[in-house]
Amino acid sequence: MAINNTLISYRQSHLRGTLVAHKDIPGDKSISHRALFLAAFATGITEIDGLNTGEDVAHTQLALEAMGVKIENLGAGKRLVHGLGGTNLTQPKNPLYLGNSGTTTRLLGGVITPFPIAVTIYGDASLSQRPMRRMILPLKEMGATFETNTNETLPLTIRGTSTPAALHYVMPIPSAQVKSSVLLAGINTQGVTSVHEPLKTRDHTEKLMDYLGIPLTTTSHASGGQTLSVVGKCHYAAKNITVPGDPSAAVFFAVAAAITPHSCITIEGINWSPYRRRAFEVLEMMGTKVTILRRTQICGEEIADLRIESNTLNSITLEAQEAPSLIDEYPALAVAAAAARGTSIFRGLRELRYKESNRLEGIFRNLSTCGIEVRVDDDTLIVKGTSGLPIFGGVTINVFKDHRIAMALYILGMIARNPIIIQGADCIASSFPHFSSVSENLSFMRAA
Ligand code: S3P
Repeated sequence: MAINNTLISYRQSHLRGTLVAHKDIPGDKSISHRALFLAAFATGITEIDGLNTGEDVAHTQLALEAMGVKIENLGAGKRLVHGLGGTNLTQPKNPLYLGNSGTTTRLLGGVITPFPIAVTIYGDASLSQRPMRRMILPLKEMGATFETNTNETLPLTIRGTSTPAALHYVMPIPSAQVKSSVLLAGINTQGVTSVHEPLKTRDHTEKLMDYLGIPLTTTSHASGGQTLSVVGKCHYAAKNITVPGDPSAAVFFAVAAAITPHSCITIEGINWSPYRRRAFEVLEMMGTKVTILRRTQICGEEIADLRIESNTLNSITLEAQEAPSLIDEYPALAVAAAAARGTSIFRGLRELRYKESNRLEGIFRNLSTCGIEVRVDDDTLIVKGTSGLPIFGGVTINVFKDHRIAMALYILGMIARNPIIIQGADCIASSFPHFSSVSENLSFMRAA
């Protein structure tokens, strides 16, 4: 479903309702990309259920199809992936357009590296500015070559190789995308490919590899880091994959319920991975009532049903080591901070500058436009909350073509006396195409 380019967010008296994974909350975007990539190399046919229906994941599917992987669409979120089972990816006829999707781009680099094909990739204006050096460095060591501009941004051409070299890579910055890129290259590379992460990042690639029986070992270190090693070339049988709901999408409604007085919502079937649930724990630490109603597992991932109830919110201070577990949720948490009592401090947000937009700048500019006292000091975001008082609103917001900035500002509009107008909201379709209809269903009544 297309999303309107302009969304208007109104103040709500309270929010009520139940949001169910796949119907209301899209499938987890990170797991969806990985499910497609790993199913592509399995032996046999994988049925994927609950795939994220946004444009980013569609770009991963299109890229794989262009390289010879047959994928059948069986309706929203359901796919049949015919695995290559040991045969090679084929040379795509044309350059591949990857839209706004950084995850597709960086994972694809690793996927292409162990095959003798040359693939030109390009993206939209935002993706064309994002740093690719972090992906290029390890893949070059494995034998891929890259034709790029001096900034090492898209468009670029990746030349894979039929004789890739296994690699031990120490991550210079925490990045689940780069880690996954190297591990995906590793499954089609002879020998042991390993990645050392000084700071752990989301582990969905490892979880899915483990579920599929790919020989991956994890060694934890006393320092808090870990080393992941995969033995290639490996053959593994296709196994059906169910994708849980995306907590990074659900968090916008959790914040909406947290900041809108007298609200109570239920969210069912979301990914409750320890690497992805931190924002809900932070909301709880700030005072929101978060009740876990049910916990279960799907394909090695933890899943939860939650109830979120509004309460007085207090400010919070978050240190830099929290950043990998909250990286996609800071825009939503900044909105919670804007409604809280006291001044919240979020440290170590450097990586936020390299997302779909410079999110640190986007949060600062837009909260300022809405009359919130906010400051950026180097990589620290400081937000003075309104102590639960409504903001004035009545402003038009530029979301810098960033889906998470757009959704965060829409949620902030729920406590604004005058509507907040979100321009360029169609970018939300990259991760959550039906966001506005789900929000409208939750909105019980406009506040007077
Ligand atoms: C992602 C990892 C994170 C996150 C991004 C998705 C992934 O980026 O911000 O939205 O699916 O691996 P990093 O690579 O910076 O960890």
